[in-house]
This record gives sequence, structure tokens and C-alpha cells, in this order.
Amino acid sequence: MSGATDAQDSRSPHEPDELPPDIAARARRLLLDLVRPERTGYVIVIAVMVAFGVANAAGPALIAQAMDHGIPAAIAGNMRALVVPMTLFLLLTLLIGVLDFWGTRMTGTLAQRLMVALRRRLFDHVQRLGIAYHERSTSGRLVARQTSDMENIQTFLTGSLVELVAGLSMMGAIAVTLLVMDLRLAIVVFLGFIPLLWVSIASNRAQRRNQRRTRTAIAKVIVQIVETLGGIRAVQSFRRESHNLDRIDAEDDEYRRATTSSLFNVAWFAASTRLIASLSTAAVLLVGGWLVMQETVQVGMLTAFLLYVRRFYGPLDSLVQAITMYQSASAALEKVTVVLDAAPEVVEPASPTHLPPRAGGGRAIEFADVEFSYADGETVLPCFDLAIPAGQTVAVVGQTGAGKSTLVKLLTRFYDPTAGRVTLDGVDLRRLADAELRESAVMVTQESYLFGGSIAENIRLGRPGATDAQMRAAAEAVGLAPFISRLPDGYDTDVRKRGGRLSSGQRQLVSFARAFLADPDVLVLDEATAHLDIPSERLVQEALSTVLEGRTAIIIAHRLSTVEIADRVLVLDRGRIVEDDAPAVLIEAGGRFARLHAAWEESRV
Ligand SMILES: Nc1ncnc2c1ncn2[C@@H]1O[C@H](COP(=O)(O)OP(=O)(O)OP(=O)(O)O)[C@@H](O)[C@H]1O
Ligand SMILES: [Mg+2]
Repeated sequence: MSGATDAQDSRSPHEPDELPPDIAARARRLLLDLVRPERTGYVIVIAVMVAFGVANAAGPALIAQAMDHGIPAAIAGNMRALVVPMTLFLLLTLLIGVLDFWGTRMTGTLAQRLMVALRRRLFDHVQRLGIAYHERSTSGRLVARQTSDMENIQTFLTGSLVELVAGLSMMGAIAVTLLVMDLRLAIVVFLGFIPLLWVSIASNRAQRRNQRRTRTAIAKVIVQIVETLGGIRAVQSFRRESHNLDRIDAEDDEYRRATTSSLFNVAWFAASTRLIASLSTAAVLLVGGWLVMQETVQVGMLTAFLLYVRRFYGPLDSLVQAITMYQSASAALEKVTVVLDAAPEVVEPASPTHLPPRAGGGRAIEFADVEFSYADGETVLPCFDLAIPAGQTVAVVGQTGAGKSTLVKLLTRFYDPTAGRVTLDGVDLRRLADAELRESAVMVTQESYLFGGSIAENIRLGRPGATDAQMRAAAEAVGLAPFISRLPDGYDTDVRKRGGRLSSGQRQLVSFARAFLADPDVLVLDEATAHLDIPSERLVQEALSTVLEGRTAIIIAHRLSTVEIADRVLVLDRGRIVEDDAPAVLIEAGGRFARLHAAWEESRV
């Protein structure tokens, strides 16, 4: 993707994420998988949170005990009857504090460990997913998975989970206590559950809808930001700023509306439950007062009931928030699961074969009955056969879109052929270990990517074990040395820091040096000299003739000067080889290559 303008118009970031039907089960499996190594910890933490909830429900019962039995007994001279429940109440309060502390701390620790494991797994999976996947999907979406979705899961695990477990066990314990204490008053309290349940279900349904909207909206905002930054040059050269601003305004507006709607729902729910709680308290007071007058209920008991009603409704707000967070987190986990479930198209063999020992002259390449099309696209290579003997330098020319890059992407196994096979010294690429393949065949393209770090480190990527002298020799071979000697820190210059920024041509020379250092059996150059000026290209060419010695090479170039050093030229047209011979022979024969060459010669004078 060259620029944000193309990215925005040709590939809509609005396509919905397709979730497979069994995604919930798969997300659950993923979660269990992550929880398994710490299962003892989780069992303990849940037990602690349940104990916390139950302990919370015991307080008012002790107060009732003290009021109804302790005080009269104390008045009658038995102080112990009052001191015991009061001491128990104090101990209970301390216990609640300790359980709260431990529960929160342990949940936090466990959740962080789980998040680190999940983030690591996702990141590693994303960087291993095939080129096919990355060429298909929007990088913004993958960023959203690793940022906002992760944050949702984390918020739930570190905060809401505690509230959910503790709140539910407290409510359960309170319900049981009420039933045991007084059936009639319990029924009065439970009557309040009917409107409460209705409000909760309605609010929950609305909240789930809102959450889905918010998540989709924020993902779109992130996609927009990532694509704008990725194509910032195109954005500025084509003055797309205000267009982009309009788009992000629209996405932001949708995000604002979804969030506002969600907040409105929270406010509505909080107000409704508070009203129900107050009505419930009033009803308990009314019925309880009457029962006290009938002398079938004692004042302490009534007080306990009133306290229970408060405790019961108290955590409801946060409980519903927690359920909302749960929904948000599980939806986020589902989206993450989709990415984690995406299998790399190009699979490394379980028991790889090794290449035969290198004879010294590179390796023979063969495309046998190869057919290839990109996922649901038209066939790019309809029926392709090609044999390149070891040590040959082959130039591939042809119109734009003819399939040249596709050809070398098959050779370096970024894609597998739809039919047929590609072999290296007779070994099918699909039977080679990735490491051996990447060591054997190296591709240099025009997007020469430099990683953060020094120039030396970037060159050394070709062969991590190389000595300093070998690294410098590679830089010299491609003519990079004079430029490096002018840099303030020489080879140690950081390529990303000010003063160390490299031009496209310089970057290309670095990636050339990297490839030369790698010393592969097969070297593929796809427009690798496109950014070089004529003198630099000439330098690289001089280097090439020595560097290509004892290697098989495929060179794709629009500038025919590079082709001059080739033993053989292939002219590709819509995925078919239409000319194939030594350059001199083709020029002599007067076909397409001859015409191209004539035009090239003309342009040079
Ligand atoms: N990732 C992809 N997904 C789908 N189709 C693709 C993909 N890459 C290339 N194509 C299509 O395959 C065909 C061949 O593309 P390829 O990149 O191999 O051409 P090329 O000969 O290298 O052209 P150029 O000289 O412009 O680099 C084109 O029609 C292109 O649209
Ligand atoms: Mg190409």
C-alpha cells in the first residue's frame, strides 16, 4: 500500500469483522488455555472473593443479634451476650478488609500475568502470520486488536472481575440470610427484584448494543489514525488533510454518540435502581413496622433488614458496569481469538528435509507445472515451467503487472503455488525448514526496510555472526563505505536519529550490503536498484558481477543496464514466458526484448 489515499478509497476500513459461528467456544478455549498454568491461583482468588462477599453479608445479622438479644441481656446483667456479637462484628470487619486487600492484589497479579501472556502470544502470532494475511488485512485493525481490545480485556480482568464475583456472592449470601431470618420480610424485599430484574435486563441489552458500537467506532478511529500516519507523505502531497479530518470527525462523532448513549444508559440504570432501593426500603419499613407492632418481629431484626436492603442494592451499579465490561471484554477476546486462529498460509513442514550439500555454484531452481493466483483473484501465473541451472544469472523483464514480483515471491516462499511445485536443487520448498530456506534464498526489494539501531546492526542482520571486518567488506563492496565515513558516528550512526536519516538510495545500499553479507545460494533482486542514481547503480553493478559469482540470481529491473550482466533474459507477459534466451541472442532475433533494448539504448544517448 503506497499511500493513505489509496488505502482509504480502495480498501474500506468499514468492512465488518466477520466472526465465525463457534467463536464464543474458541474464545473460551483460549481463555482456559491462558488460565491453566495459574489454575491454583485462580481457585484461591475466587474462594477469597466469595468469602469476602459472604463475610459482608454477616454484619447486619450480628447487629440484629446484639440489639435484640445482647442489649436486653446486658441490661439484665449479662454483659457477655453483648460483648460477643460486638467483638465478632469487629473481627468480621477486619477480616473483610484483609480479604478485600488479598483478593484485589491477587486478581491484579494474575490478570497482569495473563495479559502479558496474551499480548505476547498475539504479537508473536501477528508477526508470524503470512505475507498473504498482511497484504490482505488493514494494519490499523491489527493495531486496534493489540491496543484497545487488549485494554478492554485488561480492565475487566483487573477491576470488574473482582466486583462481579464479590458482588454476586454477597447478593447470594444476603438472599439466603434474609430467608433464614424472616420469611415475610424476605418476600417484601424479593418483591423489589421484579422491577429490578426488568431494569437490569433492559439496561444490559442496551449496554451490550452500546458496547458493540463503541468498540467498532474506536477501532475505526484507530484504523484512520494508523493509515493516515502510514501514508503521511501521500496525505500531504495530495492535500488530503481536510478530507481525513472530516472522516475522523465522522468516526469520532460516532464514538461520541455511542459513548454518550452508554453513559445515558448507566445514569438511567443507576437512577432506576436507586428508586427501587428506596421503595424497597420504604416497603420493608412499612411492613416491618407493622410486624414490630404485632410483636412478631424485633426492632434489631428490622434494622438488619433495612441494612441488608442497602447492602443489596449498593453494589448493583458496579455489578451492572462489571457485566457490561464482561461483555466488552469477551467481545474483545473473540476478536483477538479470530486473529490468533488465523493460520499462516505458508506452513513450515513438521519434519523438514535438508538441501543437499552446496556444490559451489549456487543452486538449481525449478518451477514445475506451477499455477498461481492470489486469494480469490484471477490467475497470475497460468501454467509456468522454468528451469534455472545452478549459478545462472537470469534477468526477468516485462510490463508492469506481468507477474515478475509474484514469480519471486513464490521462489522465496512468501506464497505457495496453487498447483505444481517450486524446487531448490530438486527439493520442494514446502519441505524445507524456514530457517534453511531464508538462509539459502535472499530477496532484496525496493522497499528496503531499516530497523531502529545502527547502520552496522542493520547490515549485520544479513549474517548475525559476521565479524566487523566482514560487515565492513560488505559495505565496501556495494559502495556504501564513502557515505558512511562522512557520518558523525560512522557505522554506529543510528539510522532513525537526526543526522542519521538515510535517503532511499542509501537505504537500498544498506539492504544490498545486508544481502551480500548473507552470502545466499540464491539472490533475488526485485527492482532493487530502482532508487539508485546512475553512478551508484554502476557501482552496485560492478559489485554484482563479483558477488553473483558462484550464486544463482534472479534480477528484475526496468533499467536494462542491470540486465547486461545476465546470462539469460526472460520476457514475461501476463504470467507467461514469451522470450527466453541470452540477451545478445534476443537482441539479434528482434523480438520484444530487442525493442525494449533499442528504446533503452536510445534513451541513454
Ligand atoms: N497481494 C496481491 N493480492 C492480489 N493480487 C496481487 C497481489 N500482488 C500482485 N497482484 C496481482 O498480480 C499481478 C502480477 O503482479 P506482480 O506484482 O507480480 O507484477 P510485476 O510484474 O511485479 O509488476 P511491476 O513491474 O509493476 O512490479 C497483478 O495483476 C497484480 O494486480
Ligand atoms: Mg513487481
